[in-house]
Amino acid sequence: MKRPLKVIVVGGGVAGMSFARRLSTLMGSGEVDIRMLSKAAPETSNSYAAQGGVAAVIHPSDSWEQHRDDTLSVGAGRCEADVVERVVREGPACIQELLSFGARFDTDTQGRLSAASEGGHRAPRVVHHSDHTGAEIVRVLQRQVHNTKNIAISETLMALDLLVTEEHGTRRCQGVRTVDIQSGVVRGYFADVVVLATGGAGQVYQHTTNPFGATGGGVAMAVRAGVPLRDMAFVQFHPTALYDPERKGTFLISEAVRGAGAVLLQPDGTRLMQGVHPMVDLAPRNVVARAIHTVMREQNAPHVWLDARSVGERFAQQFPMISAHCRSIGMDPVNEMIPVMPAAHYLCGGILTDAQGRTTMDGLYALGECASSGLHGADRLASNSLLEALVIPQYAAVSVMKTGMQHWLPRDLDTGPYADTGKDPTIEGLLDSLRNVMTDHVGIVRDHRGLRGALQELKCMVTDVDRAWSEGERSLAFLELRDLVTVAHAICEQAIAEPYNVGTHWNTDLVPFPRDHSDLVMDRATPAPVANTREP
Ligand code: SIN
Repeated sequence: MKRPLKVIVVGGGVAGMSFARRLSTLMGSGEVDIRMLSKAAPETSNSYAAQGGVAAVIHPSDSWEQHRDDTLSVGAGRCEADVVERVVREGPACIQELLSFGARFDTDTQGRLSAASEGGHRAPRVVHHSDHTGAEIVRVLQRQVHNTKNIAISETLMALDLLVTEEHGTRRCQGVRTVDIQSGVVRGYFADVVVLATGGAGQVYQHTTNPFGATGGGVAMAVRAGVPLRDMAFVQFHPTALYDPERKGTFLISEAVRGAGAVLLQPDGTRLMQGVHPMVDLAPRNVVARAIHTVMREQNAPHVWLDARSVGERFAQQFPMISAHCRSIGMDPVNEMIPVMPAAHYLCGGILTDAQGRTTMDGLYALGECASSGLHGADRLASNSLLEALVIPQYAAVSVMKTGMQHWLPRDLDTGPYADTGKDPTIEGLLDSLRNVMTDHVGIVRDHRGLRGALQELKCMVTDVDRAWSEGERSLAFLELRDLVTVAHAICEQAIAEPYNVGTHWNTDLVPFPRDHSDLVMDRATPAPVANTREP
């Protein structure tokens, strides 16, 4: 009797759930057996935290061609044009599908979907559910996935490594080794296809809008298995994270607040983005983040101001979560300015895939933020990531459906308890060092000397972590550190190799990329062009 196709999805956010749902409807029970593994519930994912929304053309005055052009412009010549076209064209259909699942997107007084403005978009295009759109999409997808018989969900399994076989010179992914974060039991799960949808890696930086679990697991596993990455130099910093020295977590103030009329001010109260870019406060994120970074550095200021007072009483209605958070720390965004600073937000690069999410390794797919499908290029257009996480998985599901089964699969296997689920203070110290190196030298503005020094330090950390691994260190904190060090090293290595300044990558020793749309940019952080001083 023919057995069902076995598929493992690592990660429980929007990309993983969209994929699992679609594959189960394509193949039906009995034909496919899908297991979703994640180290925490979807409520802790980057998807869930997304405030802004889904970029999709919904106004008759807008067009997919304009959405494509905005994506290409912000991606600064580094996008895959065919992937961009495919994804933006599917935007309206994705929104319709989510509505059919019961998503409650905001509408105007006539019941038409309302679209917000965000950076880099030349038309209002961001479909939203007040300021917690990610949570709304997770809610409806979760219901779909939970109601599907052939999808099994485990939310306490951290993936450690890919299980790879080699036959006649072809390497194939056959499964994933996981650790149960409650019991410490390590288990190998085998499958015909493994899909990585593990999200971002913002935790390599001191300040990030990402949740604590964004430790780059999928990207790190790919590195360890020799699967190529692309565009890792491009880390998007969100311009407006709330400056709150009392707290470790960094709270996002959505770009939609600027879309509603808020403006950035320097410490002395003058407009920050005036004269920097023609799109002023809604310029592409890399331009705004760099301008803020430059002002903070030049004026030795811990933050700049976001003045949302013009939004007035609409603020609480349009941004209830942000309003509640500000008020919980004694701040009134209707009458007071909000202190903000940039924070690491999104990994534009990742595991190299094609437009169907296929990596270069047989049996291995990557979707969402851990993947580099070619949609984002050198900087991501705001709210294009939820769209990507909804569209590419549809194509991946069709591709997986056509995948042949492996001849033989080993049985899933416990290899005994070996992870220590306790806290380890020495690892906290190592994490701090890693984040300091990345923030100081591989952050918003970089230079050759800093990058080279950082790479040396990161190489030492990789060696130390490898040694500790071979000596049997297995605490959960260590396992996350191992992933973070691997991802940080990849970001730094690819940043050093970038020959031009483009998108989010800004090295003061380099000149801008010739096709960087710099004709549009009057960036105060742009140094006078100098010869390309990159060393061979
Ligand atoms: C935001 O709401 O500003 C974030 C949206 C995004 O990152 O796409």
